[in-house]
Amino acid sequence: HIDTRCDLMLFGALGDLAQRKLFPALYQLERANLLAEGSRILAIARTEADTPEVRNRLLEKLQQQIKASEFDESVAQAFLARVEYKQLDFTDPGGFSELNDWRNSAHNQLIVYMATPPAMYGVIARNLRSADCCIEKTRVVVEKPIGHDLESSRVINDELGEVYHESQLFRIDHYLGKETVQNLIALRFANNLFASQWDQNHISHVEITVAESVGIEGRWGYFDKAGQIRDMIQNHLLQLLCLIAMDPPSDLSADSIRDEKVKILKALRRITPDMMEQYVVRGQYVAGTSNGRPVPGYLEEEGANKGSGTETFVALKVEIDNWRWSGVPFYIRTGKRLPEKLSQIIIHFKPAPHYIFDPDQKHLANNKLIIRLQPDEGMALKILTKDQGLDKGMRLRQGPLELTFSETFDTDRIPDAYERLLWEVMKGNQYLFVRRDEVEHAWRWVDQVIQNWQDSNEPPKRYAAGTWGPVASIAMITRDGRSWYEDA
Ligand code: BG6
Repeated sequence: HIDTRCDLMLFGALGDLAQRKLFPALYQLERANLLAEGSRILAIARTEADTPEVRNRLLEKLQQQIKASEFDESVAQAFLARVEYKQLDFTDPGGFSELNDWRNSAHNQLIVYMATPPAMYGVIARNLRSADCCIEKTRVVVEKPIGHDLESSRVINDELGEVYHESQLFRIDHYLGKETVQNLIALRFANNLFASQWDQNHISHVEITVAESVGIEGRWGYFDKAGQIRDMIQNHLLQLLCLIAMDPPSDLSADSIRDEKVKILKALRRITPDMMEQYVVRGQYVAGTSNGRPVPGYLEEEGANKGSGTETFVALKVEIDNWRWSGVPFYIRTGKRLPEKLSQIIIHFKPAPHYIFDPDQKHLANNKLIIRLQPDEGMALKILTKDQGLDKGMRLRQGPLELTFSETFDTDRIPDAYERLLWEVMKGNQYLFVRRDEVEHAWRWVDQVIQNWQDSNEPPKRYAAGTWGPVASIAMITRDGRSWYEDA
């Protein structure tokens, strides 16, 4: 039995992340009866307000955000009764000692959640230490971005590391909390059928697409300093790539899994300046359409600096220099203002060694495993069968063995990533969180690409909003005689 009773201190409680993701997730945990009796939440922010005001505000937000069929007034009230509010200037060490009063009234496991800009992580950690509060029996949760390059991520990790041991740190990559992302582990290591086929002998290439139809959504200031490679590739896409590529861990413990992921990050082939043209495409959207309505280009969004060369799309050809993946490229792409919100991974298996069917159909003759992360979480294995009918001879047809989770398992709702991640923190399980060396190896690889961009001074390639990115990203894969997968 694991004791999940906890005191949760939420720094940045009135900010966007807390309001949009964390409180709704905590409400859902309450609804699922997973918040233990006696668990309490201290919402902390700079804004002057008192507990009743903050509870009212949270209630309003929950009513807006939670689906009507999932909203239950009595659950909401029980949840809000756990919440107290504390106004605090995070840079003022004096105020932190008052946190002890709240803390000392119980002996629960403490969770410190820093839903603040990363520059605050070190400051908060130091102030907690100087107030001699919240160090023992504490887990600390931090969000991405951990820095904007290797150097700055080291500073943040050092600052956190001065106060907290690595075993206390829970670095969030919310993609690791997604149902289907976890299913990659089950798929690969619970099914020997796949496990035995998972290498360069049987797989020709892998595609990972994380497409978003939204633009910058009022976050221009943040996004322009980051760009799509820092915002999405350094974390989410490289994590997906690691889960697909890693060797079987010897068990499900956090370090067994993270050790294997790190080996992949270390084996990523460095992209040198002379490789850029063939391996990397950077794009920025111009005006176009989204879901049938006209939308402005990146440089015309609210708050935009018209001269920005920041990318909103990246496609990369990634090679992993190890025994298992030698010669198997991973084509990965992600962008804003693409035609739809779609995250999927396609494993392309090699064709059979000797082909005996209609030569015109040879291009069909490889199996594909399609893993849909969102929307419509599920998997499909494309297999070849004979076309039905007397007149068809031995013509082939490719069809799916299909597993859509919501239909097959009659799942009424798939929990949001943050629900699972918060629940894992309460249980003290780090396997869905990113270890320091993972963050740093990912930065080291990404930094090289960014450095090459900076040195070449090339502007990003344009693509119209509502299209699949610059044509160069199609050329990148076509050059290898392949194409991005489109479901027919
Ligand atoms: C975040 C990025 O980490 O992930 C956002 O900062 C992006 O720019 C978001 O929109 C995508 O997450 P999801 O869960 O909607 O695929």
